[in-house]
Formats: sequence, C-alpha cells, structure tokens
Amino acid sequence: MTYQASNTRYQGMEYRRCGNSGIKLSAFSIGLWHNFGYVNNFENSRNLLKTAFDNGITHFDLANNYGPPYGSAEANFGRILDLDFRSYRDELIISTKAGYDMWEGPYGNWGSKKYLVSSLDQSLKRMKLDYVDIFYHHRPDPETPLEETMAALDLIVRQGKALYIGLSNYQVAEAEQAFNILKRLGTPCLIHQPKYSMFERWVEGGLLDLLEREGVGCIPFSPLAQGLLTDKYLHGIPEDSRVATSGKFLNESHLTPDKLEKVVKLNDLAQQRGQKLAHMALAWLLRDKRVTSVLIGSSKPEQIVDSIAALQNTSFSEEELTKINAIVS
Ligand SMILES: NC(=O)c1ccc[n+]([C@@H]2O[C@H](COP(=O)([O-])OP(=O)(O)OC[C@H]3O[C@@H](n4cnc5c(N)ncnc54)[C@H](OP(=O)(O)O)[C@@H]3O)[C@@H](O)[C@H]2O)c1
Repeated sequence: MTYQASNTRYQGMEYRRCGNSGIKLSAFSIGLWHNFGYVNNFENSRNLLKTAFDNGITHFDLANNYGPPYGSAEANFGRILDLDFRSYRDELIISTKAGYDMWEGPYGNWGSKKYLVSSLDQSLKRMKLDYVDIFYHHRPDPETPLEETMAALDLIVRQGKALYIGLSNYQVAEAEQAFNILKRLGTPCLIHQPKYSMFERWVEGGLLDLLEREGVGCIPFSPLAQGLLTDKYLHGIPEDSRVATSGKFLNESHLTPDKLEKVVKLNDLAQQRGQKLAHMALAWLLRDKRVTSVLIGSSKPEQIVDSIAALQNTSFSEEELTKINAIVS
C-alpha cells in the first residue's frame, strides 16, 4: 500500500532556525547510524522513518559508511525513498557525510578533495538522489590543508550536489578557521554536528559561543549517550538493547558502576520533574536555543514517539541545572 503521511505531521513539532540561514529544522532529527544496515530488519527501518516523518521530523541524517556493511544504510534509504518518500522529497532535509574510513587505499578516508567529491558521488547513487540538502565533512583531517577540504565542500555546493555544508567533530579553533575559509569562498557553513549530551560536555568550552557568534546551527549527536541516558540499563542489560545487540560502539565496558550510579541519580531527578530520564536528557539539550535540533537514533518506532514527548517540558530551574552538573561531574 502506498504510504500516506499523517495529515497532522506538522502540528506537534517545533521548528527552529538553523543559525542565520533560511532553513528551519525540526527540534528532533533522526539518524541512520544504527538500525538501517543490511544486517537490520528492512521493514523496521522503513517504519522508523515513516514514524519520524508522521510526527514532524523533517531531517534524516546519514553518512557514507553507516550500516553495516558500509554504504548499506544509504542503499536501504534509497529503497525507502522510492517506496515511501519520493513524493515528499521537498519536505525533507537529507544529509550525508564523508570523513571516516569508507574504501581501501589512500583516497577512501579523511579530507582530500578526491575523497569528498567521489564519496558524495557514490552516496548520491546509493540514495538515488540528485542532491543532498547538507553534506558534512565528518571529522577534521590533520594532514590535508583545511583550504583543500573547504574548497572541496564549496565545489560540491557549486556543482549542485549539496545545498548546504556542515562540519562535524571540529574543535573550536579549527571550526573557526574553517568557517572563515568557507565564508571567503562564498559557501558559509550551515551547521555543526558535535557529540553533546549531559555526559559529554566539550561543546560548552567555547564551541556553542562560536556557533552563536558565527550564526551557525548546532545539531548534537548521541543526545541519549546511545541509550545510557535512559532507564533501560537500570536493571541489567535488555536483550534488544544496543549494548546487547551491537557492541562495537557501546558495550558492557561502558556500563561502569560509576556511570550507573549517575544514571540512577539522574533518573530520580527526572522523576521529580515528572519526566522519564530520556525526556529530561533531550529536554536539557533543547532548553538551549543555540541547539537547532537534537539528532536521535531509534531502534523501534515507539522510541521516536516517546522521545518527542520531551518537548512538553524543556524548562529547568537553576537548582535543577546545578543538581545535574553535580551528578554528572
Ligand atoms: N557525526 C558523528 O560523528 C556522529 C557519530 C555518532 C552518531 N551520529 C549521528 O547521530 C545519530 C544518533 O546517534 P545515537 O544513535 O548514538 O543517538 P542516541 O539518541 O544517543 O541513542 C540512540 C539509542 O538510544 C535508545 N533510545 C532512543 N530513544 C529511546 C527512548 N525514547 N527510550 C529508551 N531508549 C531510547 C535506542 O537504543 P536501543 O538500541 O538500546 O533500543 C537508540 O538506538 C546517529 O544515527 C547519526 O546520525 C553522528
């Protein structure tokens, strides 16, 4: 049956302007890092995206090597696009990235013009797209001159293969340099994608201030610390959790007694606010207007609906913020 998106999809979501740009993003975006590879259940992947879109999420975030295997999340996304989303293309912001290992040899990693241009060409074929809305350099490359990487991003926009440029995992000083080069080239950076959650606070050491000054949006990834900032690990490791099923990026070694003790305390605080821990963790990011959108992952459609409920209370008292800082420090 042809997918018909919900008529009420834009009613419950908040849309935030991305820096000084013309683009607004849904307060939640959905990432395809996990749960979209050939190893995963295709119908579930499809339902995840339908649920996201039905609930007002307009931004789908990919990368060349999401899967496993590498490339398979983009290929599955291309199939889902054909099956369900082709007629909604203009309602979607689709992003992909290059910067980590993708193919063998010296041209399949890091930040050369050769890698970025050919990787995006491959991504477009896999996703069956003419262009992506945002193309990211996935991480800084200490060996390639920043001018070359930024010139590649500018070229990609001029070729019409991406509408906007983003940077991910760039620290403050290198982000500032990159923004300046991009401005000079005439392709200002739209958005920065850093790891940011109650447990991961490096962006507070100058990056958020820089983004505000420069008019660049911010889309924190792993806002739930891959699931740690939920109540799911409070009583053991559920069989269907990322720790049990994936293990590569999150495994039992991350569930230290110290971490679990913090999760218990945060969970208590969330309950005092009348929220679940997942809601408090997401709301805590969204309370900052410099955060354009939080980039969630989900293994089940119900998790998306659940996470969006965080929008119901995104205000925090000074006392609550102080308590959170004390717990996580
Ligand atoms: N730029 C980069 O370098 C980079 C790096 C990493 C990620 N990302 C992007 O960020 C996206 C999100 O990353 P992430 O998957 O680590 O995000 P996350 O939101 O921190 O974690 C997602 C996981 O948390 C659990 N979860 C989600 N909602 C839940 C809920 N309401 N209640 C209970 N558990 C819930 C699920 O785990 P279970 O599987 O246990 O159910 C889900 O797979 C990625 O898909 C990718 O697009 C970018």
